[in-house]
Amino acid sequence: MRNKVSVIGAGNVGATLAQRIAEKGYADVVVVDIIDGLPQGKGLDMLQTGPITGSDARVIGTNSYEETANSDIVAITSGVPRKPGMSRDDLVLTNMNIVKLVTEQVVKYSPKCIIIMVANPLDAMTQLALHVSKFPRNRVFGQSGILDTSRFRTFLAQELNVSVEDVYACVMGGHGDTMVAIPRLTTVGGIPITELLPQETVNKIVERTVKGGGEIVALLKTGSAYYAPAAATAQMVESILLDKKRILPCAVYLEGEYGIKGAVVGVPVKLGRNGIEQIIELKLTPEESAALKRSAEAVRELAQIMKLE
Ligand code: NAI
Ligand code: 2OP
Repeated sequence: MRNKVSVIGAGNVGATLAQRIAEKGYADVVVVDIIDGLPQGKGLDMLQTGPITGSDARVIGTNSYEETANSDIVAITSGVPRKPGMSRDDLVLTNMNIVKLVTEQVVKYSPKCIIIMVANPLDAMTQLALHVSKFPRNRVFGQSGILDTSRFRTFLAQELNVSVEDVYACVMGGHGDTMVAIPRLTTVGGIPITELLPQETVNKIVERTVKGGGEIVALLKTGSAYYAPAAATAQMVESILLDKKRILPCAVYLEGEYGIKGAVVGVPVKLGRNGIEQIIELKLTPEESAALKRSAEAVRELAQIMKLE
């Protein structure tokens, strides 16, 4: 049986994600969008890269959900991206309608799939998809932490002139202003960065990480980041399909872990064929724990706006 991954939204993130998965060749890919011809054209173009990249993945683009039937994973990237000056939270009213409609279709055609949310505001949209799908929480979670830690790792590697591969970063909490970077648990070759860099430099890098998405929005002017977001989502897809059981930061609905109940928050998890197979509970300081709880509160406020509570 071939793996099947559907990507909803054939825009910047969705198309880049579909291409990454197709290139790896471990799943057939279905790309869905509401714009007539867009997913079909992009899908055909991706399919024709197969002979060059050595991938036999079948890629199709469509405007309907029938072709997505029995997907193993569905990544939801359909939604409006930010414009300069907007926060991710400003997208909630527009994207909640899109995500609700899309999730209903996904559930109808792939009742056993794993949903990876990508649309923003990420934590709130994940919570909405969980609510609408009625799937268990191990099958509905969001991409945010891999991107945020990747930004943190990039800036640290630049500062210390070391390989990005040797930087491990810990970022928890919401995908937004309440993001919680934890320098104490961020290491280079096993050494905490708090021992390698002055506090002021760490603070500046954390600040740049938290505002990393906005930095790119301000440069692009007509959209938001998509290369790193797509790569981050592809890493989740890979860990699931190949049952790698990687420990990765994902946005997941907490039911008491970290003292938080009933909100989606970014925390480290074990990601395998069953989706979230374990939530990793790190020992946090009282300050870190309080910051994580503030993140959960911010998501709860959006859940209330969406009338999920
Ligand atoms: P985009 O505008 O390039 O693509 C969005 C696509 O969704 C468009 O092609 C649009 O036609 C499609 N779409 C809209 N309504 C739809 C529906 N009902 N069904 C199917 N398709 C529909 O935007 P981009 O850059 O791809 O971003 C997509 C979303 O992902 C945004 O909400 C953005 O904020 C979010 N994002 C999240 C990241 C994360 O780390 N979680 C990182 C980057 C973006
Ligand atoms: C980012 O962080 C837009 O959420 C997206 O780039």
